[in-house]
Amino acid sequence: MNISVVGLGYVGLPLSLQFARSCVTVLGLDVDAKKVRLLNEGQSYINHIEPSTIAELVTSGKFSASTDFAGIKGVEAVIICVPTPLTKNREPDISFVLDTGRAIAPHLTKGTLVVLESTTYPGTTDTDLRMVLEEGSGLRAGIDFHLAFSPEREDPVNQQSKVKLIPKVMGGYTPACLDRAMALYGKAIDTLVPVSSCCVAEATKLLENIFRSVNIALVNELKVVYGAMGIDIWEVIEAAKTKPFGYMPFYPGPGLGGHCIPIDPFYLTWKAREYGQHTRFIELAGEINTRMPEHVVHQVGEALNFHQKAINGSKILIIGLAYKPNVDDERESPSYVLMELLSQRGATVEYFDPYVPVIKPTREHGHFAGQKSVDWNVGIIASFDLVLIATNHACIDYQQLADWACCIVDTRNAMTAVRVSAGRVWKA
Ligand SMILES: NC(=O)c1ccc[n+]([C@@H]2O[C@H](COP(=O)([O-])OP(=O)(O)OC[C@H]3O[C@@H](n4cnc5c(N)ncnc54)[C@H](O)[C@@H]3O)[C@@H](O)[C@H]2O)c1
Repeated sequence: MNISVVGLGYVGLPLSLQFARSCVTVLGLDVDAKKVRLLNEGQSYINHIEPSTIAELVTSGKFSASTDFAGIKGVEAVIICVPTPLTKNREPDISFVLDTGRAIAPHLTKGTLVVLESTTYPGTTDTDLRMVLEEGSGLRAGIDFHLAFSPEREDPVNQQSKVKLIPKVMGGYTPACLDRAMALYGKAIDTLVPVSSCCVAEATKLLENIFRSVNIALVNELKVVYGAMGIDIWEVIEAAKTKPFGYMPFYPGPGLGGHCIPIDPFYLTWKAREYGQHTRFIELAGEINTRMPEHVVHQVGEALNFHQKAINGSKILIIGLAYKPNVDDERESPSYVLMELLSQRGATVEYFDPYVPVIKPTREHGHFAGQKSVDWNVGIIASFDLVLIATNHACIDYQQLADWACCIVDTRNAMTAVRVSAGRVWKA
């Protein structure tokens, strides 16, 4: 069987490799010619994906990459995994999905299955994508070609969380579309969860991400409230999670990051307005989570003040640019917001992150592009007035940090098991 996966990023590449391992021949398509070249050379641009895995599948002919959408003519199914960000005004930007639809449509043939995986609001597959595909191909969804939605549940770096093992929710435009999609994914994924429509599958993914956003906001709020009472939220969570039922731990932090949790809930907020509905939980959670960097900066000010220093004129080192531990993904990372806020207040800000040696150009924080991670040695670390732990990568030696740094603000409870003298670590 031949399929094509469009969008070879954090979602599309592991999915392509999983299909290729399952004896499906995969043509990966991307608009980024550099990614395509690297993949065909058997190289990886995602830290947790081994180049050897790619090289092996390229050599065996099970996987190849291209920028030429004409290759779609020869495949039985096309899976779309392109970005779904927010616009500057925080509204859904499904232009990548629609552009992909327009690029695919002229090459669609009768009987092809098209599956959207990008996270989006209910109705995108059945209405927006379907219309673009039908207009560009002259074919009818559900009659001439099949159409389905199946959300991705990627959890990078989690060794227990292989693409094959994560149950996959699937919805079809028609029951026959669902059957086709189930038959394809059944080749590569152990557990499939069929639902009654594409809209239900789209709504399921949003529920999962909204659930995280709201629960993280709750512990972020409790962190501030308990902090004012002199109670450590981390100790409270450790105790609460001993309850064997009805509780699931979520952890506070310096703010939300990544391509999903800070963005996806607002896809629903936008769509809900069309139905005269308000998403108060989502907006409140967004407000609390967005304010976290300000709270952290306040704590940085308090810590420096204790040492008779001010943010203005201080040298501050941020540990961890990636938005979560042990990954190289720094999209929407709150570390950038912390860097902005501290720089605006007159601090000189540098960062250490072994996963992000150089800052790539970003849309919102372009002026940091080219800045390099500092070296890890006592001379460098001790030269900072304050070290702010934004991400707790496991590869960092926190005991060394305790020995070298004069003042540490910890947003991740990374210093909890480390010997350190009193007054040196502040939680935020
Ligand atoms: N990263 C995650 O952990 C994760 C988890 C679940 C769901 N998702 C969702 O999956 C989707 C993809 O996310 P991602 O993290 O893989 O994004 P990504 O930015 O890592 O990858 C997207 C890829 O699509 C390519 N692309 C963009 N426009 C294209 C076009 N018109 N044609 C072909 N290729 C195009 C880009 O060059 C890039 O390689 C998003 O909707 C996201 O919300 C992501």
